[in-house]
Order: sequence, then structure tokens, then C-alpha cells
Amino acid sequence: MEDLKYDGTERLAVDYVEGILQPTPTCDTWDQIWNFQARPDDLLISTYPKAGTTWTQEIVDLIQNEGDIDRSQRAPTHERFPFIEWKIPGMESGLEQANAMPSPRILKTHLPIHLLPPSFLEKNCKMIYVARNPKDSMVSYYHFHRMNKGLPAPGTWEEYFESFLAGDGERTQLCSHPFSKSSNTLQRSISLEQQGLCLLHREGITSVTFSLSSGFSSQNPKHEILKLAEFIGKSLDDKVLDTIVHYSSFDVMKQNPMANYTSIPAPFMNHSISPFMRKGAVGDWKNHFTVAQNERFDEDHKRKMADTTLTSHIRFL
Ligand code: A3P
Repeated sequence: MEDLKYDGTERLAVDYVEGILQPTPTCDTWDQIWNFQARPDDLLISTYPKAGTTWTQEIVDLIQNEGDIDRSQRAPTHERFPFIEWKIPGMESGLEQANAMPSPRILKTHLPIHLLPPSFLEKNCKMIYVARNPKDSMVSYYHFHRMNKGLPAPGTWEEYFESFLAGDGERTQLCSHPFSKSSNTLQRSISLEQQGLCLLHREGITSVTFSLSSGFSSQNPKHEILKLAEFIGKSLDDKVLDTIVHYSSFDVMKQNPMANYTSIPAPFMNHSISPFMRKGAVGDWKNHFTVAQNERFDEDHKRKMADTTLTSHIRFL
């Protein structure tokens, strides 16, 4: 790898792997990522970017540690959960982190299902897929592009919006469009749910009913936390459950340096431009989309969802 002196002051370029945009260092090491060897007791958290990955990671870690805060705050998120396709020259890659980590591991990926290293399915690993209203993911991703030098410069909201819909990589680094390849992941997730996959709905964690299909929404975070605990095979008493609700709340995580990404050096992530823990809200897209953009997004959505059965399960807030 030639570009070993990447210091976050320039934006990383993106390229395609099987039609999906990824940073070029990930593309260059794709064979190694594809051949990653999962272990049977790995737990994989799979999301479209900005769906609530970090939040889910925190909840899962707190469950695993039975609410023991000191253990959950042992290291920053990006060290506790190897991000398997993550590769920035000069830094330890997600693969290196994962390979060095003793079992049981909790791993993270944004890869759509067709790019998921086959060993995860071969080894029947437990997987958690988190879904979020894609309009909110898009807005959150825009602000993340603004502050994160590992992603292309997003330009103005209007420029980013066009690039996002086109999926051209000009101003966005999309692991895929949420309604095309990633929705296949979601669709596959629904059909896999009985076979070792837990499907979480982010809006379900946020006390707002967002119906993906019956059973995936709730009125309070406890429901989703208990669902996760059951999936992982842990039983939580009320005290531990309350502790997890508290420490995984937006306000507490925002102040937690082990969960708010402030441990990443400022040249890479500049929280003064937009904090990683930004708003944590449902429906913030309404503060960004114009009426015309919303109509275009809906049309695009309809077109891209035409070959899936998901439309009957999704309604936007
Ligand atoms: P916003 O930018 O809309 O605020 P990911 O971890 O997948 O990158 O997602 C980041 C998004 O999840 C950000 O959304 C962030 O604020 C939000 N988030 C993280 N922790 C949260 C929490 N405990 N409660 C609510 N939202 C949270």
C-alpha cells in the first residue's frame, strides 16, 4: 500500500466492489475481507450506515457485561467491535483487530448481504440487523460526511442529495443505496429471522412506533433491549435492565468518550463540524428535505423497491 501517510487531512477516494462503493483501501484488500474466517461464536452487527450501529453495539456490550459499566467502558467503540471491512492506511485494519481478538467477538459490518464474507453464514453466526428510516439515515450520513475525512466531501445538502440518489460516489460513500442492495439485506434478514438473526428496528428503540412488520416496533427501549438479550442468551433482572437503558440513552452516550467517537483524532473526525452523537432523533429528515426532494425520494424509493416485497412492511414517519 503506497499511501501509508494518510493523516486524515485529505479525503479518501472511493471505488466499486461488486457494484458497491467502498473506500479504495477496502477495495484493494477485498480478497482478504471476502475470505475472512468467522468463528461460530461470533456475533455480527450488520447495518446500513447511520442506522444506529453504535447504539446497538453499546446495548449489546452492556448486555454481555450484565450492566457492568467499567467493563463496557474498557475501550472506545471502534476497538471493542472490529469493523471487518475497515481499512485506513497506517492504522490497524478491522481484519487485523478481529483476528487478534479472543472469542467471543462482536463484529460490525455495513456490507450488504451479497458482499458478506461467506464464512458468517457457513458458521451459522448470530447476526443482528438494525433498520432505520432511510431518510433519517441519509440526513445523518450527510452530516457524518461533513465531519469525517474518511468519506468523500459531501458538498451542499442539495449536491449530496443528488449524489446519494444517483449513487455515483461523487459526494457520498455509500455501501449501497438503502433501497437496492441493502434492502435485499433487509429482505433476506426478515426471511432469516427464525434462523439466528435478530432484526431490530431503531425507531422501536426510540419509543416511536415505526412499523416494519408487526413485532418490530415497541413503545420503549426495554422491549428491544430484552429482545436482544434473549437473542444473545442472557437474562436481565430489572436493575440491570434499568442500568442498560440509562447508559445506552443518547444523552449519556453523548458524554461517554468510549462511545461518542471523540477518541478518533480530530483530523479524521471533526466533532466541531458535526458531532458523531448529533441529534439521535426520529424524523430529522423533515428539517432537511424540501417538498420536491421528498417527492423525488419517494419516487426513487418506489422504483428501487419494485422488485422487493418490502414496501408492504415499511411506512415512513
Ligand atoms: P443522527 O446523526 O441522526 O443523530 P451509526 O452508529 O450507525 O453511525 O448511527 C449514528 C446515528 O445514531 C446518529 O444519528 C447518532 O446520533 C445516533 N445515535 C447513536 N447513539 C444513539 C442513542 N443512544 N440514542 C439515539 N440515537 C443514537
